[in-house]
Amino acid sequence: MGAHVNRSNAYESRCMSDVLGRTLRPGEFKLTEKAIKFCNITNKDSVLDLGCGMGATIEYLYKQYIIKATGIDPSEKLLGIAKEKCDFANFVLGTGDMLPFPKESFQCVFAECTLSLMNDLNQTIHEVNRVLKKNGWFIITDVFAKHPDEIKELENCSIHSCMRGLHNLDILQEKLTNTGFKIAYFEDCSDLLKELLVKIIFNYGSMDIFWSKATGDTDCLSGIEFIEKLKLCKPGYFILIGKKGKTK
Ligand SMILES: C[S@@+](CC[C@H](N)C(=O)[O-])C[C@H]1O[C@@H](n2cnc3c(N)ncnc32)[C@H](O)[C@@H]1O
Repeated sequence: MGAHVNRSNAYESRCMSDVLGRTLRPGEFKLTEKAIKFCNITNKDSVLDLGCGMGATIEYLYKQYIIKATGIDPSEKLLGIAKEKCDFANFVLGTGDMLPFPKESFQCVFAECTLSLMNDLNQTIHEVNRVLKKNGWFIITDVFAKHPDEIKELENCSIHSCMRGLHNLDILQEKLTNTGFKIAYFEDCSDLLKELLVKIIFNYGSMDIFWSKATGDTDCLSGIEFIEKLKLCKPGYFILIGKKGKTK
């Protein structure tokens, strides 16, 4: 199956990993750990990490729980780093809207700060539902807009970042329930995003300098414009755990 591969991926940039560390998301493993406990995931469960990036969660699951997970990501560069660290795991080049796995392959799918980047969110949610076993878990951590009416302002920004894909939580929950997921857990974890933003500003002086470095876009104006539009949306961060019920 052919994979759509992103040409420019800010998450491949050195300053992303400089600020974020091993994981490419706010909160490192805090929410991963919360989800493992909530869903009672063990090494008997098959796990997929959708948008696995550098394989941080895959490495964590193996070291802490001897779980050998599968990772999928469209970035050859990030997958290369992941493979070097985790020679026990299976990594696949691909995107969320076309998962190259048979139906009911996994007990659990993690999407940690990745759903906001999907080319086709509806199709991705359907794909996750298809590859999950009955009663399987869909663990989503991601960015959302506390003022969702402002999201449309971000649509024309060229910046490739999860912040451009802030979720409207009502719409996301509706898409999930319409696809056959029950919302089993939700928590607003916006403090984790705040901590990260403070760290970025401390290291780079301002968000727009960080964005222009991360995206390789030297036109600082587009960064400044983007941040202004972003502020209007009031970004937050959440964890949502969906449980696969009946497929509609
Ligand atoms: C914010 S990073 C998170 C990476 C990893 N989950 C983590 O938390 O460390 C977003 C990841 O999503 C990947 N990504 C971008 N578009 C994608 C798509 N359409 N399908 C799957 N993954 C995608 C990126 O390559 C990147 O690795």
